[in-house]
Amino acid sequence: DGRLYIIHKAYIGVDFRAYGFGARVIKIFDTTLRDGEQMPGVALSNEEKLQIALALDEAGVDMIEAGFAAVSKDEQIAIRQIAKEVYRADVVSLARMSKSDVDAAVSADVDMVHVFIATSDIHLKYKLGISREEALRRVEEVVSYAKSYGVKVLFSAEDATRSDLEFLARVYKTAIEAGADEINVPDTVGIMTPSRMAYLIRFLRERLPPVPMHIHCHDDFGMAVANTITAIENGADVAQVVVNNFGERAGNAALEEVVAALHFLLGMRTNVKLEKLYELSQLVSKLFGVPVPPNKAVVGENAFSHEAGIHVHGVLNNPFTYEPMRPEDVGNKRRIVLGKHSGRHAVEWALKNMGINPSEDLVEYVLNTVKELAVKKVKIDESILKEIVTTYITAKSR
Ligand code: KIV
Ligand code: ZN
Repeated sequence: DGRLYIIHKAYIGVDFRAYGFGARVIKIFDTTLRDGEQMPGVALSNEEKLQIALALDEAGVDMIEAGFAAVSKDEQIAIRQIAKEVYRADVVSLARMSKSDVDAAVSADVDMVHVFIATSDIHLKYKLGISREEALRRVEEVVSYAKSYGVKVLFSAEDATRSDLEFLARVYKTAIEAGADEINVPDTVGIMTPSRMAYLIRFLRERLPPVPMHIHCHDDFGMAVANTITAIENGADVAQVVVNNFGERAGNAALEEVVAALHFLLGMRTNVKLEKLYELSQLVSKLFGVPVPPNKAVVGENAFSHEAGIHVHGVLNNPFTYEPMRPEDVGNKRRIVLGKHSGRHAVEWALKNMGINPSEDLVEYVLNTVKELAVKKVKIDESILKEIVTTYITAKSR
């Protein structure tokens, strides 16, 4: 891509975690294999699903939504296999508010059944064709049915954020009274803003018994992570996320961004091993067949890349000048890129990295040549850099 990547491993700086807010532990519910797989064009084999589930377990997520058992026999087999092989996380299957869906989920041997029903008037009228009272009746009936199996039950009010607030609180209360162990607040079409999310979570917290509350945000307006973090700051306990922000339409809140923000910006803890984030992102990208955008926060190739002269100078002196966290802490790498915007410091550093102690004249020559080549979109790699140096030496020795 016309640039030379050089890995810089040195580190000097401030530990941002010192600015933490306290030691609250937030649980991570990963739905890469369910909501993530609903991404248009993506279909994982059972083998691939298992591979991702094991990587998620290894990374330390607390709950893995492995799929939607009622979808097909094959999906049920995949979930059962995951439930058998995952040893740390709780394995979850989604189920509509129906007894047969619950039966399918339970037959997959999951630890938790995640039942959902829409609660907004638009969904009740145009999708389910039922009244609010009928929705309440189904919640009572199916949640208590699921609970009778002895599994954990998570209840979601789909489209919660577009539902009448008093009705929404009644639905959650009904689910809790029927035996739901945990509840989820989905922003199904991603229409929340942080301030509205803060209000909603406080509103529900004040009215409901203190069961663990999940937050599930979609990214239609690019606010899924901000809304998730705000919900947690205001009383939610569990973040529902998808690796790489994959998922339906604009995707779900990104696992790696939520975990890093909780850790580095708020000083909250999760059980996720931060240093596994990059490798997890790469695996999911490969198996989904969807590339990670280079500018993706935390796990993108450019998340810790520096080309502009002023930035490179700062970063080479102290990485925290232009990095809010250390790349190695999230399994990523710092890259000093030589290109159109490079300055003398980057060139000097790159040459020293190649074992050359450059004169000022050589630095000047290499810098000018790199800039000329970069604007012509010539791919500058280490061999090109060597060629430039050789040309310079040959010209000098004449
Ligand atoms: O976005 C949503 O509402 C969902 C529910 C099924 C939890 O994915
Ligand atoms: Zn969703």
